[in-house]
Amino acid sequence: MPGNSIGKVFRVTTFGESHGPLVGVVIDGVPAGLPLSEEDIAFELSFRRPGRYLVSGRRERDQPKIVSGLFNGKTTGAPIAVIVNNEDVISSLYEETKYTPRPGHADLPYIQKYGFENWDYRGGGRASARETVSRVIAGTVAKKLLLLRRILIAGYLKSMGNIKVEGKVDFDSAICAKYSPVRAPSKDIENSYTSLLKSVFDEGDSVGGTAEFIVRNTPTGLGEPVFDKIKADLAKSLLSIPAVTGFEYGLGFEGAKMKGSEANDQIVMENGRPRYSKNSAGGILGGLTNGEDVIIRIAFKPTSSIRKPQNTVNVKTGESTTISVKGRHDPCVAIRGIAVGEAMIALTFADHMLRAGYVSLVKLEKDEVEEIERNWGEYKSLCQQALSAGSQ
Ligand SMILES: Cc1cc2nc3c(=O)[nH]c(=O)nc-3n(C[C@H](O)[C@H](O)[C@H](O)COP(=O)(O)O)c2cc1C
Repeated sequence: MPGNSIGKVFRVTTFGESHGPLVGVVIDGVPAGLPLSEEDIAFELSFRRPGRYLVSGRRERDQPKIVSGLFNGKTTGAPIAVIVNNEDVISSLYEETKYTPRPGHADLPYIQKYGFENWDYRGGGRASARETVSRVIAGTVAKKLLLLRRILIAGYLKSMGNIKVEGKVDFDSAICAKYSPVRAPSKDIENSYTSLLKSVFDEGDSVGGTAEFIVRNTPTGLGEPVFDKIKADLAKSLLSIPAVTGFEYGLGFEGAKMKGSEANDQIVMENGRPRYSKNSAGGILGGLTNGEDVIIRIAFKPTSSIRKPQNTVNVKTGESTTISVKGRHDPCVAIRGIAVGEAMIALTFADHMLRAGYVSLVKLEKDEVEEIERNWGEYKSLCQQALSAGSQ
């Protein structure tokens, strides 16, 4: 069975390769009446686009074109299809290294599975993170649907190499990190990340990082026991992102060092409803959302394509050789990966909102459409004050 689709009701299929004519996505299961425009999608894509400070030099305008499922600016209930042309493609950069698979990249496993003659070596083909454009497009649709319940997702770079944000980052700082060129939640940490990036880039090397995501205003009860628990579906969708090597939520791996009395969250009554005193579960218990903020962390490995020479083999001659990757690559993929992480979380939540009956499977009512439009406008204008005050 192929693996190009994800989601049970909100079903997303991506297509296209790094150096093909375009990349795109088909999104099925979206109720009729959701307002959607190419500008909405372009807004979200702007946070993963290459060409920003100290990321890949590949310059893509990422202009989305909606080719199905829309009438008078609203979804019709039909599959939504969106395409984005690949414009800044320089395949010649990959001619020199086509027989020498990059250590840390998908080249050798793809050659072994599909055969060298069928392998699209140009820019990593289907394994390239260019495919994640399609995920961010689908994530835009999902994010808009989630705004029916004011659900918001904020991701920021929690660590880069050995530099780490200490302590808890509040939701407002996390959501405004999208306007930082290195997705840092404060100016100080932005400066530290930037100097580390510059030094690894100058060495012809790369660096890994971790991202943290906060999902706000989650209703209780999202997740389907026992195999489609929300934690299991989040893990799958986030680990499907290229270069993601780890997933945790709540206490995560730290919890394994604790005693039950330290880890347990005391349940307290607050404004007439049960709450958890410290949210150590990260908003998920029994595989179901418990109404607290969902807190997720993922790890990104360092970019595998680096200028520093590394050992590999020539698959044509069988000889050992070295490779220095000259293409245009991000020194830290975690930065742009955060937009992709937010999108994958949005897809997973949208799927479960539909499955749990929080959103109609068929069509949105007029008041629901107005609520979404109002919340989308607010979401887009978030952080503008902070930006104009120069605090980001
Ligand atoms: C947003 C984003 C951008 C990426 N850019 C690059 C890149 O420029 N060069 C590179 O070697 N890998 C890049 N990657 C990672 C590779 O696509 C990934 O390491 C490769 O497909 C192998 O898959 P794996 O790391 O999941 O095993 C990027 C990943 C993401 C999420």
